[in-house]
Amino acid sequence: MENATLESILQKQARYAVILSDAYLALKDFPPNSIDCVITSPPYWQLREYAISNNHSSQSIGAENTWAEYVHQLTQVFCEIQRILKPSGSLWLNLGDTYVNKNLLGIPWRVALALQDTGWILRNDVIWEKLKGTQPVTDRLRNNHEHIFHFVKNQRYYYNMEDIRIKPRLMPISTGENATSATGVSGKKYRAQIANSDILTAEEKKNAIQALEDTLQQIRDGHVVDFRMTIRGYQRTLHGNGSKTSGRARELEQKGFFIMKSYAKGFAPSDIWRLVPEDGVKNRHTNHYAVFPQELLRIPILATCPPDGIVLDPFVGTGSTIFAALHHDRYAIGIDISEDYINSIKHQLNQVLF
Ligand SMILES: C[S@@+](CC[C@H](N)C(=O)[O-])C[C@H]1O[C@@H](n2cnc3c(N)ncnc32)[C@H](O)[C@@H]1O
Repeated sequence: MENATLESILQKQARYAVILSDAYLALKDFPPNSIDCVITSPPYWQLREYAISNNHSSQSIGAENTWAEYVHQLTQVFCEIQRILKPSGSLWLNLGDTYVNKNLLGIPWRVALALQDTGWILRNDVIWEKLKGTQPVTDRLRNNHEHIFHFVKNQRYYYNMEDIRIKPRLMPISTGENATSATGVSGKKYRAQIANSDILTAEEKKNAIQALEDTLQQIRDGHVVDFRMTIRGYQRTLHGNGSKTSGRARELEQKGFFIMKSYAKGFAPSDIWRLVPEDGVKNRHTNHYAVFPQELLRIPILATCPPDGIVLDPFVGTGSTIFAALHHDRYAIGIDISEDYINSIKHQLNQVLF
């Protein structure tokens, strides 16, 4: 193991380090609370054969006889990760599932629950919908998703939502009297609907007009980019009449209207990511499976690794995590048991960086 390189990166004297080793053994050499963010995809249980060209094949994770042993092995590794992660840190864990005797085992969740039992806090179960691939199945549906679990060590942790918000489209007409919502209804039309309503009380009409004017002002000020107003008796609602369960329905019942707004600062991405899997990147001669698309790494890095923080991938494979971390100006460490992969990453980094 390249201790000097590890130390230099921990002291921010180098941008990256790649370590040829079994992950568990290498992690033992890391000081506690030293890493900001871990993003990784360990070998799936009994699913893939990795080209391990050195003598470490006996330690290759995924070759265990039972899923229980696999879960145990991974739990050991992630206990070490927990030790070396900073209190503000995050772990993003991608796992796929396995069928045995036609039985889908639920491996990702078995691992996730085992990690929760060792103290990890699970913040998200991201579904990665792989926008690709056919499977020759005839008695079940195609499997097109994998899980990416986001874990933290503490209830308070680093999270930069501002850098990952999805920006809304701007309204075509965003000022004045005629401000138009996504549904094509202008402020003017809402105003008329309120005035002509024979369902709303005078008090409700007054409040509805005031809320509409406030929203139009927010648009003129640039804080809101779109809105939609629902007025009792006019617009169709999607939430049924369950005012006991739906906040919107309750608002409609109590106030006679509600307004939904899209704020200019954008909104949080959802936990479903539709991304095409990577199958060979230009300038990266690889026959590796389960390569992370660069886009998959963007949210974990921007949201949970501070600028100048260190990203670690203990099962780094082709080095996608390192390349993405460097691209986003973070420091990066990768570990892999395969000499071929480690050499390939070093080769590419030399080409890219020097
Ligand atoms: C699913 S792949 C990771 C792919 C990676 N996310 C990428 O984008 O290329 C899992 C990797 O774990 C490595 N591996 C298997 N057992 C290991 C162990 N005990 N320690 C470290 N790496 C191991 C394999 O060589 C393989 O490259």
